[in-house]
Amino acid sequence: MNPKVKEALDKSLALIESSVDPNKTYLEIFGKGGIFTVLAGEIKNIEPQNRAAFGRDLNSAKSQIEQALHIKRSSLVVSRSSGFIDITAPGKKQKIGHLHLVSQAIEEIVGIFTKIGFSLQSYPEVDWDWYAFESLNMPKNHPARDDWETFFVKAPASSRYGNQVLTPHTSNGQVREMERVKTFTPRSPKGEVGPIRMLNIARCYRRQIDVSHTPMFHQFEGLYVDKNVSIPELKGTFDFFTTNFFGPKRVTRLRPHHFRFTEPSFEVDVTCGVCLGKGCRICKSGWLELGGAGMVHPNVLKAGGIDPQKYSGFAFGWGIERTIAMKTELPDIRLFYQNDLRFLEQF
Ligand code: DAH
Repeated sequence: MNPKVKEALDKSLALIESSVDPNKTYLEIFGKGGIFTVLAGEIKNIEPQNRAAFGRDLNSAKSQIEQALHIKRSSLVVSRSSGFIDITAPGKKQKIGHLHLVSQAIEEIVGIFTKIGFSLQSYPEVDWDWYAFESLNMPKNHPARDDWETFFVKAPASSRYGNQVLTPHTSNGQVREMERVKTFTPRSPKGEVGPIRMLNIARCYRRQIDVSHTPMFHQFEGLYVDKNVSIPELKGTFDFFTTNFFGPKRVTRLRPHHFRFTEPSFEVDVTCGVCLGKGCRICKSGWLELGGAGMVHPNVLKAGGIDPQKYSGFAFGWGIERTIAMKTELPDIRLFYQNDLRFLEQF
């Protein structure tokens, strides 16, 4: 090897040996004014007959230097960490989350009802007493209101709409929806409205907490208003929902009940997922209660500016957490909101 090349090679290898910053060392050798760069520039001063040999020596020195740099780089990666790093190991996968099971259920419920013509609407989470109670045939101080253990909001009341409340149920969307559809459907000369096929899904609030209640929960509310709407249509809608959400083996039944905003009113039950209606330790009777429903009360239609002589409708409102618990046989709905990943990751 040409002695000049040999000298530059030894110098470079010594630099690499003691280097703590291989990038800086690389520049000291191959950068502008670097040891190797200066040496390579001398090729023009070499006699023509020796140039080829000089070039070969340069190439061999260059590859030795590059290899030494490569080894140095790898050794630094290992020694900088406390232990051994396998640089060929695949990287750590980012943990990807998924939708909360309440959100998953909402998507599923919306999917089922949109198939039969309902459309999702959204109404205020803090609403007037008028929409939450009074327009639903529950006048001020009516004892029926006690069932909705309501949070009132400290805010100025309206002379027309009363106090503001955290919506205790999604039924506040009923009269609002009638007003919306009346405003936006182009009216025929005879003043026809609708039909209304609303699905209102929202957070609701009540002063209650135990295995089947949380102070914040979700409801989904359906409202269908048209001419000649009948109870069999209501039952058919629930059967469609039940088959799609709970599976084909489970069926619904209507049980007489009372709500101020429907007449007649029902509780909707679905057969228990464990015994399928026979009766077992979990359900006792074979049936589990889904939620309330009924034919919209004429006073509610009137409050929404719809003529009860011409139109009728049905409505229902069910808790989402309770509906999920009935599908998955969960014993305590407070689990939904404890943010325990061991629970949430199972869904
Ligand atoms: N709003 C009622 C509740 O929270 C449920 C309900 C019952 C909604 C009957 C309705 C209905 O639309 O028709 O308990």
